Amino acid sequence: MDPADFYTGIVAELYAPLKAVAQEPEPYAAFVREAGSPALELGCGDGDPLLGLRRLGLDVDGVDSSADMLERCRLRAREQGVEVVVHRQRMEALDLPRRYRAVFLAGPTFNLLPDDTVALAALRGIRHHLAEGGTALVPLFVPSPTPAEQIGRVRTANGADGAELRVSVVSEERDEAARTQTTVLRYERRHGGGTSVVDRDWVLHWYAPGGFEALAAAAGLAVVSAADSSGGGVREYRLRAATWR
Ligand SMILES: C[S@@+](CC[C@H](N)C(=O)[O-])C[C@H]1O[C@@H](n2cnc3c(N)ncnc32)[C@H](O)[C@@H]1O
Repeated sequence: MDPADFYTGIVAELYAPLKAVAQEPEPYAAFVREAGSPALELGCGDGDPLLGLRRLGLDVDGVDSSADMLERCRLRAREQGVEVVVHRQRMEALDLPRRYRAVFLAGPTFNLLPDDTVALAALRGIRHHLAEGGTALVPLFVPSPTPAEQIGRVRTANGADGAELRVSVVSEERDEAARTQTTVLRYERRHGGGTSVVDRDWVLHWYAPGGFEALAAAAGLAVVSAADSSGGGVREYRLRAATWR
């Protein structure tokens, strides 16, 4: 399965019930107010913080590769009475009609891009979609290995149809040279005496010191600041076009 399709089917179904923390809109609202509108959230998923930003009246569009996550986002928007424009696209193949003063990812979603080649394509897309003077915000982290005692531990939630949904870590491989961690997750759906099981690879990719800055430069972007965000080992990079044509 392509990593961009990971959040589909049962994974999308389990995403909201098992979400440990929702991305609060306030930090991203502050970023959008500072950088300007319109704004674009890449990897908006089922709508956090996108819908919160729309409720604040900010002009923010969303992009995600998963039709299932976007369907949930549109449903939540209707339930909340907010209008939202979302596009089903991969961030490494962005092709949108608008240009944006602010482009951001909420949390380290950029780490889901599985290698430097895909990341460079995404950074080129970001560069291409920035309005003159616009700023991009990319949070990144270096994932830790899953602690041994968590391998095999099952987390459960109920689906909308009453099914029992279960997820557990089966195994994990870390490739320090490629800077990737691949976690095999087992998803189970139990309903009416029947059980279906799927295993999915969840890939995280990270950057060596200076590596992200070099990729950004190759995409025509300059890092204007890099700051540790509160908690979780996440570093937030702000990028601007290196030159304007
Ligand atoms: C961890 S979820 C975050 C969703 C939402 N922003 C939130 O905080 O709840 C990551 C999202 O990124 C999307 N995604 C992963 N790879 C992508 C890609 N290459 N292009 C666009 N979206 C992608 C997934 O489909 C998923 O909805």
